[in-house]
This record gives sequence, C-alpha cells and structure tokens, in this order.
Amino acid sequence: MTLAKTLAITPLSDALGAEVTGIDLREPVDKADAARMEQALTERLVLVIRDQKFSPDQYLAALRLFGNTMHQHLTGLLMKDHPEIAVLDSRRTKAAPDGVYAPIGSRDWHTDHTNHARPPKITALYAVKLPKSGGDTGFANMQRAYDSLPAEERDALGKLKTVSKIEDREYVSAEDRKKYGVPQTHPLIRTHPVSRKKAIYVHPGKLARIEGMEPEESLDYVNGLLDRVITPDVTYRHKWRTGDMLLCDNRAVLHIAHRDYDPAEGRVMHRVLLEGDVPF
Ligand SMILES: [Fe+2]
Repeated sequence: MTLAKTLAITPLSDALGAEVTGIDLREPVDKADAARMEQALTERLVLVIRDQKFSPDQYLAALRLFGNTMHQHLTGLLMKDHPEIAVLDSRRTKAAPDGVYAPIGSRDWHTDHTNHARPPKITALYAVKLPKSGGDTGFANMQRAYDSLPAEERDALGKLKTVSKIEDREYVSAEDRKKYGVPQTHPLIRTHPVSRKKAIYVHPGKLARIEGMEPEESLDYVNGLLDRVITPDVTYRHKWRTGDMLLCDNRAVLHIAHRDYDPAEGRVMHRVLLEGDVPF
C-alpha cells in the first residue's frame, strides 16, 4: 500500500514565494487543495509547485486551475500545436558575430506584457531543461516595496500613470508590432483585485513615458525608484529544479532573469500567461 501524498506549502523566503510539494497536477485536484494553493498565491505572490512531469496538454490543463490562458506576443516563440505556450530556449536566439548568445528577455526588473490593455495576472513557467549552474530568476514583492515608502511619496506615486509600448527590439516581428503596438496607459500604483493591497507596477523596458513627463525623465524616475525600493528585504532568488511549475502574480511582483549561465548549454522554460483585468 502506498500512502496518499499530502499537500504541503512552505515559504521560500521572508519576502515572498512558497513551495508546494505532495501534489501531482496531472491528477484531479480536490477543492480544498486548490483553495489552499490559490490562497497561498494571493499571500505569497509566487508559488513553486515541485516535481511535475507534464506533457504540453497536461501543463495547460493544470494551469486552468488558476485561470484562462491568453495570447502572448513574440509569436515566433510559440509552440506549433500549443500556441498558448511560448518556448523560451536560451539557444534559440541568434549568436552575435562573436559567437556569444544573447537570450531573449528583459535583463532588468519588470512585469510582463504591460503593452496590453489587460496584462496577464499570472506568468507561469515550467522548467524543462536547465544549465549546469545558474539561470536563476529573481522576484520582488512590490507590495512590500510600496509599503516601505513614506506616506507622502506613496500619495505622489498614486497620482502617476505610465504609458507602455511594445519593445523596439529586433526579435519583435512587424506583425506583432502591428497587433500589439498600441500604447497602453496604466496606473504606476496598482491595487490587487483580491487582497486590495497596493504595489508598484511597471515594465521599464516597455515604458514610453509617465504622463506629464518627457520619455528620458520618465525612465530615469522609474529606474531611480526601483533602485531604491528593490532591496534584499523584498526579493527572493529562485534556483530552479527541472519539473518546477512556477506561478508569479504579475500584479504585485517584478521579476528578473539572471544571466549567470552559459546560454549555449540550453535553458528551456515553457511560458504561459493567464488573463488579467484592466489595472486600477
Ligand atoms: Fe518577463
């Protein structure tokens, strides 16, 4: 007789993140377990469900517990038979003339797809292949970052609006540019629709400007703010294991892909985005 697995949820750091063990999401999940994971995600903002063994269909089925999938831009990366999944493979980008790979993805702290009117509430990553070492992803609890500011500054930031555009990068196709190129305005301070907590919400790489400021001034302002508030107290650095399914609440978390590995070794993540609301 084998003992039934028991769901366990353990914090990964003081700042944010929780690890989930004892569940195989290929199997039906009972309501109580689903509710515990949902609550942990709202409270801890990043959930890492360990030791999964998914086919693409099983991965998508597991994600339906948490929301509906949405279209991603960068359509060149989408899996042919499962276009909801983007394959982020460090070896897929063109090697520069010096033979050094430049992996796709922002090297700075950001949230995903702010050039959409309804940006994704969750980014899901499933670790398929990892380099021998490194390839970590950093996460920052922007609710905690916001709370660390003096009341006066919080009030001032609460009045600002960001305008986001699609990146001006060679890997964004003309078609994607046409489809997703309309600038979108969002509040810089966003309220979480479930917990009602406020967080700093911005993607500097997509920032066209802050309303009422020049583009360059806007970027300096945002970078200065993020430099100040993203401290070890608000961050968690995830060291991946293959089979990790990670969910990140984009409404309250910024992330960064550390380039602390050799892209030629191959780091493969299957990324899915879950539909979100209009930020307020
Ligand atoms: Fe990202």
